[in-house]
Amino acid sequence: MKEKIIILDTTLRDGEQSLRSSMSIEEKLNIALSLEDMGVDFIEAGFPVSSPGDFKAVQTISNTIKNSRICSLARCIDKDIDIAAESMNRSKYFRIHVFLGTSNLHVTSKLQKTFTQIIEMAVKGVKRAKRYTDDVEFSCEDAGRTSIQNLCRIIESVIDAGATTINIPDTVGYTIPSEYKKIILQVRNEVHNIDKAVISVHCHDDLGMATGNSISALEAGARQIEGTINGIGERAGNTALEEVILAIKIKEKLLNVYTSIKISNICNTSKIVSSTCGISIPENKAIIGNNAFSHSSGIHQDGVLKNRKNYEIIFPEDVGFKTKQLHLTSRSGRAAIKFYMDKMGYKEVDYNLNLLYKKFLKLSDKIGQVFDYHLEILSFLDNQDKLI
Ligand code: KIV
Ligand code: ZN
Repeated sequence: MKEKIIILDTTLRDGEQSLRSSMSIEEKLNIALSLEDMGVDFIEAGFPVSSPGDFKAVQTISNTIKNSRICSLARCIDKDIDIAAESMNRSKYFRIHVFLGTSNLHVTSKLQKTFTQIIEMAVKGVKRAKRYTDDVEFSCEDAGRTSIQNLCRIIESVIDAGATTINIPDTVGYTIPSEYKKIILQVRNEVHNIDKAVISVHCHDDLGMATGNSISALEAGARQIEGTINGIGERAGNTALEEVILAIKIKEKLLNVYTSIKISNICNTSKIVSSTCGISIPENKAIIGNNAFSHSSGIHQDGVLKNRKNYEIIFPEDVGFKTKQLHLTSRSGRAAIKFYMDKMGYKEVDYNLNLLYKKFLKLSDKIGQVFDYHLEILSFLDNQDKLI
């Protein structure tokens, strides 16, 4: 039986944290609606204690969204937790997500406490959140740099206090997949009450490992993945959800897991997040970049035209892109030229493909990218040398 992977989107919380200016309530709601349409299980809508605007945004989202569960972040501080609960109190079901630094560095230099005090604060925070909801997530901030003994100790205590999801974030994107997988496996093996909670992972991309780390954690038994659309987030960003969702889809059989995400909505949601946040998507970005489904070299274009599976593991229309693109450059071959001429309604008898190809090569060497209308003009020319 395939197991479901829960998707928690934190575009509006961890993603927003990285923006130069915060989003308006309308913009946040628009993104939340798009995440709901996409089938995201949890929308982490904000950190309500941080500002009245954030509180209002979480409240508005929580009052509007019906098909995804809303989650709010809170430190292990009574006021944070009470305000988080208040921001969602008109919903029947909601999640409070409390967090506390657990690495030696965070404990000693940021929080200036002993680890025993940290455990006490974490337990108190979880218990307070439990007054408001059954659904409490606890995050061991900087888990990637926390000793396994301390990690297991605190996890055991917060589960006993009522946490139902345990998040093991690689807050500073420090681990590599084999290392992160080992942490998850050790937690599963060494925490005696771990079966009472869902293990969640939350990776940052400082070493470009966020997607790899998330997938390796899933192989080790994590059942919730946190991330953002387009991978926006602090520093190098969070796990790009579109990447893990597609990796899970493509490797469904190998991993024996699935998500409830409608992948055909990915492109639309990605565009909404990009334009709202003013963060453009790199051309070669996996899944959502403009170049992700275009083919440039002659060999690839010929292969795709014969059978798209030769060079496409995902079809663009599956994730909501309109069409595949064959870029016409001097690397293209006759197959792409014929493809565009066919598209424009020309039969092979109407023009000489070899001659057209020669003229095309001359033009593309001069101007770089050639378009279909260039081909049309070139096909009418007898002596290209005079005109190009
Ligand atoms: O990166 C992190 O550790 C976080 C936590 C608050 C979950 O964003
Ligand atoms: Zn984070």
